[in-house]
Amino acid sequence: MLDEAKAGDYEPSDIGVIGVIGLGYVGLPFAMAFVRRGFAVIGIDVDARKLEMLQRGKSYIRDVEDAELAEAVTAGKLVVSSSFSRLADASSIVICVPTPLTANQAPDLSFLTAACRQLQPHLSFGQLVIVESTTFPGTTREVVQPLLELGGLRAGESFHLAYSPERIDPGNTATPVEDVPKVVSGLTAPCLTRIVSLYSAVFHQVVPVSSTDTAEAAKLLENSFRLVNISFINEFAKLCDQLGLDIWEVIRAASTKPYGFMSFLPGPGIGGHCIPVDPLYMQWKAREAGTESRFIELSRDTNESIPSYIVSRLERLLQPERTLNGASILICGVTYKRDVADLRESSALVVMERLCNAGATVAYYDPYIPTVRIGEASWRSISLTDEAIAAADCILIHTDHAGLPIDRIVAHAAAIYDTRNLTRGKSGPGKLARFGDGSRQ
Ligand SMILES: NC(=O)c1ccc[n+]([C@@H]2O[C@H](COP(=O)([O-])OP(=O)(O)OC[C@H]3O[C@@H](n4cnc5c(N)ncnc54)[C@H](O)[C@@H]3O)[C@@H](O)[C@H]2O)c1
Repeated sequence: MLDEAKAGDYEPSDIGVIGVIGLGYVGLPFAMAFVRRGFAVIGIDVDARKLEMLQRGKSYIRDVEDAELAEAVTAGKLVVSSSFSRLADASSIVICVPTPLTANQAPDLSFLTAACRQLQPHLSFGQLVIVESTTFPGTTREVVQPLLELGGLRAGESFHLAYSPERIDPGNTATPVEDVPKVVSGLTAPCLTRIVSLYSAVFHQVVPVSSTDTAEAAKLLENSFRLVNISFINEFAKLCDQLGLDIWEVIRAASTKPYGFMSFLPGPGIGGHCIPVDPLYMQWKAREAGTESRFIELSRDTNESIPSYIVSRLERLLQPERTLNGASILICGVTYKRDVADLRESSALVVMERLCNAGATVAYYDPYIPTVRIGEASWRSISLTDEAIAAADCILIHTDHAGLPIDRIVAHAAAIYDTRNLTRGKSGPGKLARFGDGSRQ
């Protein structure tokens, strides 16, 4: 049996090496947080291109600086490898692999189960395994535990097993990962004590909960809350369009209430690896239990309807001079949110497809995304010259990247449909409409 782990502030030297499986948006910044605190980290990934870049001290995640990464690699504080056998040296192993949806919109745990199967032969007595991937309640107990026990070691007896949901906010440089409170849970009380001890050494606030199921559900609540509220504000924006009201002004006014109101902003659709995906993990689990969330269902449907609405408003702006058929549309920003290089689930992809299907000629500009491919079609980001702006029949502002030269766009565009309210209070020679501005153009 394992000894009862002691709570309290451990020093890196007490704990030894940390293993991180999956060096993506979550795993790499997470590994660097441990390095900053003085730990040695072994990072494992199956993507040879990422490993090669990391070995050269090159980051592919905007939130991780090349200089800090290169220093960690040169000093041997971050060692990266594709070989799970390296994890034999780790005292704690954190799993940060993707948890997407299958084609049927069901949880796809294939990355998580693959990582567990690859880890299991190298698992040894006394190690702590932590799952950070977002997933439905019950996964750690029902899926991860049996896989890790295949070699005969028992969770809670011969190794510790814990779950802590990752809350990283890509592109948010104002809040270091260490400042984000970490919800933690363990399979048994000693498992919980062990993760509390480890994470207290890195994170400024650690929030223990009673079970791994609770911690898994807490993450799904956070992201379902965002899906429901963003979908609702997008629906409200459509209402404002019909009623001749400006949603942005309505939100500004409502936001002055000092309690009981939380502001969410409209946009062309919810994207990314988390918000459109995670609530469906909860829905899947609910249906397995014979129930369902009507809010999640409705919010998903609402979210999926927004790109078509944006396209129809854009066409309305072009009329009566033009229809979409034959029009040239330049999309500014294609990522799902500002200042990230992430196209996953981005509504821009749906918008581009709809515009092409309607006969429009589409080009895009995004400083973070050099190429976009949808099926057989592919595009290269153009340079946003005054001439390119002026040549388009309409500019669609999809993503509000910080460096977007909005004044220059307004000064040269023939028409602008703005889904992010960047053009509020601005005017130029061309037609201008914002999503939810009530202009009924
Ligand atoms: N991206 C976010 O903003 C965010 C925020 C909070 C939580 N999460 C959750 O964190 C998890 C990871 O998401 P991400 O955005 O970092 O994904 P990602 O795709 O950016 O990174 C995952 C990494 O895991 C690697 N990988 C896949 N299978 C592997 C295996 N068997 N062994 C080793 N490496 C493997 C991939 O090559 C990739 O580098 C997901 O569950 C996600 O829902 C993501």
